Amino acid sequence: MPTVTINGTECEFEGKKMILQVAQENNIELPHYCYHPGLSIVASCRICLAEVEAPNPRDDNKLSFIPKLMPTCQTPVADGMRVYTTTPKATANQKQVMENLLINHPLDCPVCDQAGECKLQDYSFQIGRGESRFEEDKIKQPVKDIGPHVKLYSDRCIMCTRCVRFTREITETSELAVFGRGSSEQIDVFPGIPLDNDLSANVVDLCPVGALLDKDFLFTQRVWFLSKTPSIDGLTASGDNLSIEHNKGKVYRFKPRENKDINGWWITDEVRYGWKFIHSEERLAQPTRQQIGGSIKTDWDRAYQDIQQGITQADGKLALMVSPMLSSEEAHLLGTWAKSIDPDAILAVGPIPVEGEDRTFANGYTICAEKCPNSRGVRRALENLGSEVLDADALTALLADKKSGIASIALTGNYPQAWISKELSKAVGKRFSVLIDTLPNSLTPKATIVLPSASWAEKAGSFENHRGQVQAFDAAVPVQEGARPEGQIALDLLAVSTGEPRSIFDVATVRSQMGDDFNATVVEPVREVVESELQFVEL
Ligand code: SF4
Ligand code: FES
Repeated sequence: MPTVTINGTECEFEGKKMILQVAQENNIELPHYCYHPGLSIVASCRICLAEVEAPNPRDDNKLSFIPKLMPTCQTPVADGMRVYTTTPKATANQKQVMENLLINHPLDCPVCDQAGECKLQDYSFQIGRGESRFEEDKIKQPVKDIGPHVKLYSDRCIMCTRCVRFTREITETSELAVFGRGSSEQIDVFPGIPLDNDLSANVVDLCPVGALLDKDFLFTQRVWFLSKTPSIDGLTASGDNLSIEHNKGKVYRFKPRENKDINGWWITDEVRYGWKFIHSEERLAQPTRQQIGGSIKTDWDRAYQDIQQGITQADGKLALMVSPMLSSEEAHLLGTWAKSIDPDAILAVGPIPVEGEDRTFANGYTICAEKCPNSRGVRRALENLGSEVLDADALTALLADKKSGIASIALTGNYPQAWISKELSKAVGKRFSVLIDTLPNSLTPKATIVLPSASWAEKAGSFENHRGQVQAFDAAVPVQEGARPEGQIALDLLAVSTGEPRSIFDVATVRSQMGDDFNATVVEPVREVVESELQFVEL
């Protein structure tokens, strides 16, 4: 295989690739601003320039230095090539680029949201000058509200044009453009046309400095206090990879995680900002039961006993409706519990919300119309228990049929929006009903027992997306006080039903019960281990 040597490290490569791409694939850090693997290459920032020794076809392919510095983002690798970005010539260029970029850059790092994840800060620290030689007044530019989610701090911009290329090449909406020339050049939107597309906030992630900032996250946390947990889109069937960033049990923001096979580098604004219900004040936080025509608080053990008694004493079959918002592991446990009480239990997947049609962008990124993460995984987990699995409409019709013989029903929700239809509510009727849910809905005051459950950010599991890709996710924040994950509720109910000791919900254990076929399909996330560069000093 052909090789290129980058700063002394020999790297193999295949096909036509740029030096910077090969460096990134081999975890070699080369400074860069304007290059982004998801966008076209413009080679405008010039910080990635390197000294390159390349085979010279005019001299029998002997290695010789190319006389000028070459942009590593735009120079294709060749077999035997040698690249240097740490030589005096390359470093001098990096220092000059940094000095030029900082001429008009405000010294507002202490109040900039990007501080801590800013490429300008990072390279300043690594290769910048310790002091400024610029004595004139800096050019000041205004802060602009350019869309529903994004603020533009123009004077922090380094004109890398990543944001402009994103709106041209990915969303094809072209709201952002470069206006002006020279030192008064700036990024802006066209008058009266805000940055308002379904992927708009991705420009915040793309911006290597603090010029484009997320209005929702602005001034809420310093980024170095945030922990990142790998997760999956829990709101739509896309399976988009994302990081949940949180501190002290509170979620602050979602960021995309790179996965070239699924979402590339992007997530939708719908998913980025759709998590707020996780910390809703409306969240159910206490089991309740019906008594004398009203709903009263109860404790978990009493609720479990009442459920066991209510279902076994009801004269007929048990139906279980598992929400497509739950993980496959939870669906398996809930189905196992239902079968332990009633081997003929009727199993169904809950309502699958669909809005419009799938929308695929030019680069292949797809916004899913299906607004739940795991309808396929839930169905597969329930079918693996050996039953026919109904959809929500079929179960609703069966419930409405008085001859169906269904005497009790357990339903799980966990949707961020209202999900009980009038037909379903009417069909449940006066049966013994157990509702396991996160937010109140029209069935909450009527269900015989209500158990508060946990959103996907509070538990681990796996989702199967619209393309049949099964991906694992980790628990980011602790379960809200008073609630329990559906997987734990199923295990607790199973213990009451079988008389076995209670066990703690553990994803690996559940997966081992689900069989090798299922396990072979689950893709685990790459878990980042972040090691601080800061040295702790004993005082
Ligand atoms: S706003 Fe950010 S992403 Fe856009 S050109 Fe300026 S620095 Fe680059
Ligand atoms: S990253 Fe190569 S010129 Fe900008």
